[in-house]
Amino acid sequence: MGNCRQSQLKVIITRQEIENAVARLAAEINRDYAGKQPLLIGVLKGSFVFMADLVRQLDLPVEVDFIRLSSYGAARETSGKVRVVQGLNKTIKGRDVLIVEDIVDTGITISFLLGYLRKQKPASLRLCALTDKPSRHRVPVSIDYLGFTVPDKFVVGYGLDYNEKFRHLPDICVVED
Ligand code: IMP
Ligand code: MG
Repeated sequence: MGNCRQSQLKVIITRQEIENAVARLAAEINRDYAGKQPLLIGVLKGSFVFMADLVRQLDLPVEVDFIRLSSYGAARETSGKVRVVQGLNKTIKGRDVLIVEDIVDTGITISFLLGYLRKQKPASLRLCALTDKPSRHRVPVSIDYLGFTVPDKFVVGYGLDYNEKFRHLPDICVVED
């Protein structure tokens, strides 16, 4: 099993804490979407682990799709320009859409995505984010379902990467410089 026991990594959120948070978020989503068939849209690649755990706690006839956006390249900071690299398979018109994201940093990616999806006229559009770095927001973002607030440090694990590495780690860790 993967772990953060490498010199430059420090665990800040354990797998047990993540499991508890996923259960809490799923309970909120189950309650709020009772009687509905939400379409969960995962933002690739970082959301894949969170999405896999979250959907298995949902007691709803959910559908799942993924979208891939780009803004980063290999940098640690967003370039500010977001593009859709891989779009959705089906229309979201009239659907109850819940975006599943790994982390909100500056908020630029997610506000682009909210605007992009809103134009397609979903019945409702909400955001579920595993982590948020509020001190870094450059645009206002409201998160409907939030797992954790994290400090202004680069975090990896549980789907989150640094240059495509560390996504497999079961805990969330900080990369120390
Ligand atoms: P934003 O547009 O600045 O909010 O950046 C959002 C995206 O940047 C996230 O979906 C992540 O893919 C990536 N990102 C931002 N901060 C981190 C981090 O600390 N670790 C890993 N990825 C990050
Ligand atoms: Mg992401």
